[in-house]
Amino acid sequence: TFDEVPGRYKVRSLALAEAGRHQIRLAEHEMPGLMALRAEYGASQPLAGARIAGSLHMTVQTAVLIETLVALGAEVRWASCNIFSTQDEAAAAVAVGPHGTPDAPAGVPVFAWKGESLPEYWDCTEQIMLWPGHDGPNMILDDGGDATMLVHLGVEHEATGEVPADTEHGDPDHAEEMNVVRGVLRRALASDPQRWTRMAPGILGVTEETTTGVHRLYHLAAAGELLFPAINVNDSVTKSKFDNKYGIRHSLPDGINRATDVLIGGKVAFIAGYGDVGKGAAEAMRGQGARVVVSEVDPICALQAAMDGYQVARIEDVLSEADFFITTTGNLGVITAEHMAGMKDKAIVGNIGHFDNEIDMAGLARIPGITRTEIKPQVHEWTFPAVGDQPERSIIVLSEGRLLNLGNATGHPSFVMSNSFANQVIGQVEIFTKVGTAQAYATDVHRLPKVLDEKVARLHLDALGVRLTRLSPTQAAYIDVPVDGPYKPEHYRY
Ligand code: NAI
Repeated sequence: TFDEVPGRYKVRSLALAEAGRHQIRLAEHEMPGLMALRAEYGASQPLAGARIAGSLHMTVQTAVLIETLVALGAEVRWASCNIFSTQDEAAAAVAVGPHGTPDAPAGVPVFAWKGESLPEYWDCTEQIMLWPGHDGPNMILDDGGDATMLVHLGVEHEATGEVPADTEHGDPDHAEEMNVVRGVLRRALASDPQRWTRMAPGILGVTEETTTGVHRLYHLAAAGELLFPAINVNDSVTKSKFDNKYGIRHSLPDGINRATDVLIGGKVAFIAGYGDVGKGAAEAMRGQGARVVVSEVDPICALQAAMDGYQVARIEDVLSEADFFITTTGNLGVITAEHMAGMKDKAIVGNIGHFDNEIDMAGLARIPGITRTEIKPQVHEWTFPAVGDQPERSIIVLSEGRLLNLGNATGHPSFVMSNSFANQVIGQVEIFTKVGTAQAYATDVHRLPKVLDEKVARLHLDALGVRLTRLSPTQAAYIDVPVDGPYKPEHYRY
């Protein structure tokens, strides 16, 4: 069952709003960056006139982001960017709003609940693009690029009648989802043959949260197909070097614990990928006392992992040895069905990268004689039949191969998301307020200027009791930086 008013909101239950509001209130205390932006911009309302379509995990932290955008003057419509990541109490609280009641909701239109089907997911994504009285949103706030992709595919569909069979270069399992998207586009075409074509020119830009979405944007830009300017929020230092690393360090063990309650100490944990997410994942598992084995394709990251004290091996080397297999690559086909068939009994398998194609779930389901038992939602035991003298064995798969920190737990904690989301808010203000000026962002993928990245970090120092050292003018001149920053050249890697 749902609480819904078509076009207005669709959530699990508005009765959860009070519980959500308490959590939002506590999260606000842990999100000093967002609260500082409310204080700085509340009076000047830089987002007045912005109609933001947001597609990002509908969690408590995202509720604070949404209400910050509203405090800066924006109108907002929201969906989650993953079928399992919504916290129903957060969605309810956002729909009800700080001044509404469950009987008289007065919040932001939100279309999200935990456990959507794929057709429901794409219906929700469509809903955030439909603005009563307008052709569509004029801004997108995206995580993984699904809202941005829908507009691009919609325009292409209206022009050619075709939707490419495979937008995810070579991912066969994406076909099922593309069929769902195609259904949404066909329905739209039947009711309004020019919907996306009219909408797209009104979109002033997108701010993109994650590595995978940014990858899609650069791909569109390189192909000359990007329809509007984009800000790559992920590659702000205060995003990827914090959220992807320290956020994962917190939320990976959180997801494993809530899902399985299996002791991590003393076990062997295999982590695929040693980028920002992999570094946080490996550190978390080592922190719990696991022996960590990392795999990499990039010799630089492999060497980093080795220098950080991890064994670097291939998955084939540790199949019968590892107790946990975690993918963090943003790549496809990293754990195959054959790998899973070779794992030790009760091995725990999970993905923390953006999409569910890192683990071949479709291939697993096709293994003859395999059975799937639901232990609880988002925790499944897959049992391989006995073969020859090999007894029956099983593995535990978390969140059906989708990102487990949001499926099995509640994602990253507020403080780190305050950094990521402060970049999102600044990115929205940058694009929206500069349109029509000499500083307007061109149709390309941009990063925020370093001085704004440093600003985001500054907004979080007081809460941690950090006392920053100030350069003297002589010191600043000696190292050739302004006293107030930016302190590093663009190529500096942190
Ligand atoms: P990254 O690019 O820094 O790291 C990915 C690493 O995986 C790279 O070092 C790459 O060389 C390695 N890799 C690629 N293919 C591989 C393979 N077949 N085997 C082993 N290693 C391989 O990317 P980042 O920022 O670490 O993000 C990774 C994924 O996590 C992305 O999909 C991103 O969107 C997602 N993400 C998820 C979050 C969450 O809360 N679950 C938070 C932030 C990012």
